[in-house]
Amino acid sequence: MNRNSLKRAIQNLYRQSQQIYAERVLDQIGNRLDAIEGWISYEKARKLSSTHEAVNSNAPETLTSKDFWELNTVVGSRVFEESEDSLDALQHRFLNYPGYRELMDMGDLSGKTFVDYGCGPGHDLIHESLKSENVKIIGMDISKSALSIARERVKLHGLDVSLVEVEEDQRIPLESGTVDAILCTGVLMCSENPTKLLEEFRRILKDTGFIKLMVYNKSSLWYHLYCGYVLGIGESVYSDLSTEEIFARSTDGLDIPVNRCWTPEEVVEMAETAGLECEFLGAAPSVFEMEIAIRRFEALRYTSLNSTHREFLSNILVREDGVPYSRDGAVAGIDACFKLNIPEKRTGQMRGPNLGSGSASLSGLEN
Ligand SMILES: C[S@@+](CC[C@H](N)C(=O)[O-])C[C@H]1O[C@@H](n2cnc3c(N)ncnc32)[C@H](O)[C@@H]1O
Repeated sequence: MNRNSLKRAIQNLYRQSQQIYAERVLDQIGNRLDAIEGWISYEKARKLSSTHEAVNSNAPETLTSKDFWELNTVVGSRVFEESEDSLDALQHRFLNYPGYRELMDMGDLSGKTFVDYGCGPGHDLIHESLKSENVKIIGMDISKSALSIARERVKLHGLDVSLVEVEEDQRIPLESGTVDAILCTGVLMCSENPTKLLEEFRRILKDTGFIKLMVYNKSSLWYHLYCGYVLGIGESVYSDLSTEEIFARSTDGLDIPVNRCWTPEEVVEMAETAGLECEFLGAAPSVFEMEIAIRRFEALRYTSLNSTHREFLSNILVREDGVPYSRDGAVAGIDACFKLNIPEKRTGQMRGPNLGSGSASLSGLEN
């Protein structure tokens, strides 16, 4: 073998070894894309936050809720150029949570005063104002950046909406008994004092008014499978954290200061403590939960899976349309939806938690 062919052989070997190495790396990465995406968003938040001198890699909890939500609007830094673009984003949100739209429908709000509390970039401001006529709409949020996206967006649709910046743990700047309908979706579990916020809702609500509430559901695949198994054990992203701690980091951003999930029973109890009657309407899954539902079998193979997650996952079935539900009939999705109102004055007995139609049986088929 001459010098040149030896050189070519070495180059070939080198290329092959590079390829083998790359394939191995890709294999290892394979199922860890979620973890990598998580870290990318963490690094992004950390870089942005460093300008606020509010966060460092060891102490993410030093961010306040307001700081966090200034940096993390639900549509990122997206600017809506056309009204079609805005409607497309709204549609995308509905498609990603099958059943959510129906559960959270506010009905006809024509002639009513409607508050979207924690309106974010204004999905529901747009949705509700396009559905009804002559509604007095007020969007409230603690994040200036979310409100400015909402402001530009309502302009695109030519809508008349008041947007109000509120502060964590403070009185809502509205008179008592003046609001017909309140929507609060994806907010209460991030609030420092959720019972106090519900009491504020009760104060501003008319006697005949109602609230629609969506909070993160503990009785979900997100909590028991994604946090309890995938992130905790399967991908070992957070093997040293409790499922609650993993959950807090898994939805809106890694350094969110307050984030929890509750069972429907816990929400009903909390609402009753705040003087509100509360009915669990049901839950909607994210398409992500539908996609990973199959991994419950992998989770059940692990002896280290804790017994609560094991029991929950062994009772999960999947409907023909892909929606996961538990044997008691409740959809095992992350969005738990409720209707609340001021109880009629009566001298009845104390009632137990009202789990309403949320766990009504489903005509589902197992996969
Ligand atoms: C997950 S986003 C949901 C946004 C919107 N409701 C939606 O469903 O698209 C949570 C929103 O609640 C706001 N938020 C968080 N804590 C709040 C509080 N205590 N009072 C008012 N808004 C709050 C955040 O700024 C953010 O816009």
